[in-house]
Amino acid sequence: MTRLWYGGDYNPDQWDESVWKEDADLMRQAGVNLVTVGVFSWSSLEPSPGVYEFGWLDRVLDRLYDAGVSVDLATPTASPPPWFSRLHPEALPVTADGVRLTHGSRDTYCACAPGYRSAAVGIARALAERYHDHPALAMWHVHNEYGTTCYCSLAAERFRSWLLERYGSLERLNAAWTTAFWSQGYSDWQDVQPPRRTQYLVNPTQYLDYRRFWSDELLAAYREQKAELRALSSLPITTNYVFGGWVPVNHAQWAAEVDVVAIDHYPGRTDLGAEEQTAFGADLARSWAGGNPWLLMEQAAGALNDGQRLHPKEPGRMARNSLSHIARGSTGSLFFQWRASRGGAEMYHSALVPHAGPSSRIFREVVALGAALPSLAEVADAAVVADVAILWDVECWWAMQGTHLPSSSLDYLAAVQDAHRHFWRAGVTVDFAGPSADLSSYQTVVVPSLYLVSDEAAASLAAYVEGGGQLVVGYFSGIVDPDVQVRLGGYPGAFRELLGVRVEEFHPLPADGEVELSSGGRGRLWSEDVEAVSAEVVDRYVGGVLDGKPAITRRQVGEGTAWYVSTAIDFETAAGIYDLSPSPVETVRRRAGDTTWTFYFNHGDAQVDVPTDGVELISGARVDGSLLVPGGGYAVVRSP
Ligand code: GLA
Repeated sequence: MTRLWYGGDYNPDQWDESVWKEDADLMRQAGVNLVTVGVFSWSSLEPSPGVYEFGWLDRVLDRLYDAGVSVDLATPTASPPPWFSRLHPEALPVTADGVRLTHGSRDTYCACAPGYRSAAVGIARALAERYHDHPALAMWHVHNEYGTTCYCSLAAERFRSWLLERYGSLERLNAAWTTAFWSQGYSDWQDVQPPRRTQYLVNPTQYLDYRRFWSDELLAAYREQKAELRALSSLPITTNYVFGGWVPVNHAQWAAEVDVVAIDHYPGRTDLGAEEQTAFGADLARSWAGGNPWLLMEQAAGALNDGQRLHPKEPGRMARNSLSHIARGSTGSLFFQWRASRGGAEMYHSALVPHAGPSSRIFREVVALGAALPSLAEVADAAVVADVAILWDVECWWAMQGTHLPSSSLDYLAAVQDAHRHFWRAGVTVDFAGPSADLSSYQTVVVPSLYLVSDEAAASLAAYVEGGGQLVVGYFSGIVDPDVQVRLGGYPGAFRELLGVRVEEFHPLPADGEVELSSGGRGRLWSEDVEAVSAEVVDRYVGGVLDGKPAITRRQVGEGTAWYVSTAIDFETAAGIYDLSPSPVETVRRRAGDTTWTFYFNHGDAQVDVPTDGVELISGARVDGSLLVPGGGYAVVRSP
């Protein structure tokens, strides 16, 4: 049976058993069919070393099973109990400044500490042994949001082994890290350290390698737990991805190790930007999943936090954002958390059952969404249709987080988000793709600020153009190789020949500066002294030292076209390149066989009449030629 998952993190160990019965009743009322249990329950499950208390969890799982709610059983390893930190002080994490953290929050462990790793495997094994055949179980959830970094001496040792594996010798490491600069040449492995706080600018390659190393190390920790679960259970195993600049995880690479890609998504914006971020996060998740279905493991039922304060989600937004994820391939909509906590660090985080209880707007909306979702289940396996891909490479992001760049305004994530936003504003769905992905199915591929690129990835992009594709390469691309070393002879090194341009000098703009373009558009952040060697000039800089010089170029390559855009362009300029026009209605198409499902999201205030035929799934109404989508509303139409 195809179904969409609906529910979220359920933390019954925070509540008296008398509340559990109401939980089960309310879950049934809301149509909840999956809850993540035990994700932060280590101290409830193993209150002292080797002493397990499974009785409460037995009763919780039995009750959920009786209520028809499936369980995504989590290993609680993102928050070891206080006794663990007392017995393993060496496993407490150390910051880049050398400060050893103490117990008192979550994620207070170093994943390189052998004591932590064996304790994590131990509790995972104990859970697998006890629950592998419990009938409520639908899925395993390893850990929570892998993403911590530590700079302790145990991490340093692991880092050295990783470097030895990567480079084979100190000689090769010295070459890759350009250690001749500032007398950093290593003659003994013991001298190689994590990029801890230092006097001045950090070595860019050391910095990037530390991120690469942590991704591999955390993946190894995930794999150890997965092996314990797999030994006793054939159910899907996953972990919930968290996305953020601090996260040293290569999610695309990890995707090979999870049975279903699962993400948590909390927009940092609260206005229309939150809608765009929702689309961005979901499109990224789909790319990690290789276009296959994935799962929204967490989002907020209510208020969003912009870092300053909570902003309540206005009526309808929870359902609209849920559908936005489902439109883009999520096989459900799950939340943190089921019932708002009475105390603890996140007591004011919204929940499906708020502090006010079920007699509340949020819970009424939760019930309404739960009632609507089954009618959408038929889309679950259909493929999302996109003709445009935007390149995303986490290693490039990490490299651009170094302290060595020619402008502090250069921001990889922002550049990728800008590109995504241009299409989103025109209501066009895009995929993200990794740098070496097969791009042949796309009409257009956009490459924003791909600062770091391998020879293979550059060759694959060239092959895409030669095969007839339209490639649009953004400013500050192709500059360095995977060792963060400049490709000499003129920027944008790796793409110089393909684009037919040569850049001798960067001209970074002030953070709030703009530059005029001859087309009437404007550039921000960045400009370059571009020479069009074998490319046609499409747009030019106006005024300043670059007056009259090429800003945007185009080169015909075989059947394809390669564009270079040397500044951060506005929507109007992008619209000219991609032939876009702004639309308040975002359209996402899914297809399976001869059937197409179209999701419409109206982000404007006024109702919009969209031309379409078929059946609207939520209302069940027939649509003949035209469908009115109210302002802020959405619709899903199945067409033959
Ligand atoms: C993350 C975590 C949850 C919770 C939420 C709050 O996604 O996984 O445990 O802390 O953030 O936004």
